[in-house]
Amino acid sequence: MTTADPAASSGPASSGFGAHDVRSGRAPHAPNAQDAPQTRGPAGISTSDLEAEAAVLDAADPLRIHRDAFVGAETSLVYFDGNSLGRPLRASVERLTAFALDEWGGRLIRGWDESWMQLPFDIGDSVGRAAIGAASGQTVIGDSTTVLLYKLVRAAFDAAVAADPSRVEIVVDRDNFPTDRYLVEGIAAERGGRVRWVEVDLAGGVSDGALRAAVGPGTAVVLLSHVAYRSGYLADAATLTRIAHDAGALVVWDLCHSAGSVPVEADAWDCDLAVGCTYKYLNGGPGSPAFAYVASRLQERLAQPIQGWMGTADVFAMGPEYRPAQGMRRFLSGTPPIVGMLAMQDTLALIEDVGIAAIRAKSVALTEFAVRVADELLAPLGVAVASPRDPATRGGHVTLSHPAMRAVTARLWAQDVIPDYRDPGGLRIGLSPLSTSFAETLAGLRAVEAAIRAES
Ligand SMILES: Cc1ncc(COP(=O)(O)O)c(C=O)c1O
Repeated sequence: MTTADPAASSGPASSGFGAHDVRSGRAPHAPNAQDAPQTRGPAGISTSDLEAEAAVLDAADPLRIHRDAFVGAETSLVYFDGNSLGRPLRASVERLTAFALDEWGGRLIRGWDESWMQLPFDIGDSVGRAAIGAASGQTVIGDSTTVLLYKLVRAAFDAAVAADPSRVEIVVDRDNFPTDRYLVEGIAAERGGRVRWVEVDLAGGVSDGALRAAVGPGTAVVLLSHVAYRSGYLADAATLTRIAHDAGALVVWDLCHSAGSVPVEADAWDCDLAVGCTYKYLNGGPGSPAFAYVASRLQERLAQPIQGWMGTADVFAMGPEYRPAQGMRRFLSGTPPIVGMLAMQDTLALIEDVGIAAIRAKSVALTEFAVRVADELLAPLGVAVASPRDPATRGGHVTLSHPAMRAVTARLWAQDVIPDYRDPGGLRIGLSPLSTSFAETLAGLRAVEAAIRAES
């Protein structure tokens, strides 16, 4: 279990879900149980019991008032993909419109001097504060996740080799997100290094023992995902960071599926470097730029490989040669994607307002409910839960596996139930604590049940 995960240790009882035993999922006095069809699962729980339970959980949910703040939440569409592309907040629609009219349209190029040049740092600090436990001056909004990961892994690799030429290995797990695997292979090829692969269970993730066996005196950098994109496995980041440091290596954390969903304590973990998406739980919109975290103690030691004018000490000096800026500016390369970084500010403000502990508590309650419903309605049809069953080692999504899931996904999309599909046979159920309700979760899983029956 991550030590910095208050909700996983204290459980949802402290968050408003206490009126109901979320772990066992029983709702003995639930209303309207007699109105729904009485199909029963292996534990003898009927679908109407589940409906009543969802109603109780929604009523007890302290975050339910925020659901209406999202565009589309009022419709019957079931959205299980906020871990891929979050819904927009209504406030963001207003912010984007006002920006186009007033700032872009009104201030024109003066906007750069007036505020835009500072925006990557200000929003970066707010990601640090709200979502990743980083003190100011260590987080910046930059390029895409892939490009930022490339820049930081390469910078870390080069620094490690410069300090000790025998450190030429990059450690990464076989089930890390494709971009992470591909880019370390590219860096190893271009810098004369090697990739050392950690084998993992597809329904789990990187354990302490597996990492300990993979690192050693030849390790330069370790690249790990905090929440595994396929299984949802939540790594014990503090312990894994310590194991890498004990071996003398630097660690880069991929926080794509964590930021805004599970507590992250970059400073407390003694994290070196991290990168994360903003279009998932931070609702930044399609293709919104990623954030990069570099611990203060490392910033001056690292040189990133894409030397552009926005990373220089005096951007408008237009000098003859590249001189990296002090601090986080040196990790930028070109013109910051300002329009893309506007919307995430509304979600960051909301996260600061409600607190990540409350978000995690709702996330745990949602995934616990989804697993229970899957056990009741889908296990009899041959569906397996391909995610950790212990909520302390599970992030914000649950993967359900069955050979028909690709066809099931297509069928569901056609009826406005939107999960996503990952090979082999995995249906990912992404549950966004600020915008997903328990009733929506049940409706979606009942649609999965019907689709599997139709495909069988
Ligand atoms: C875990 C993880 N890492 C990296 C990426 C790559 O991000 P991007 O396509 O924004 O570069 C993603 C995208 O979904 C991801 O989920």
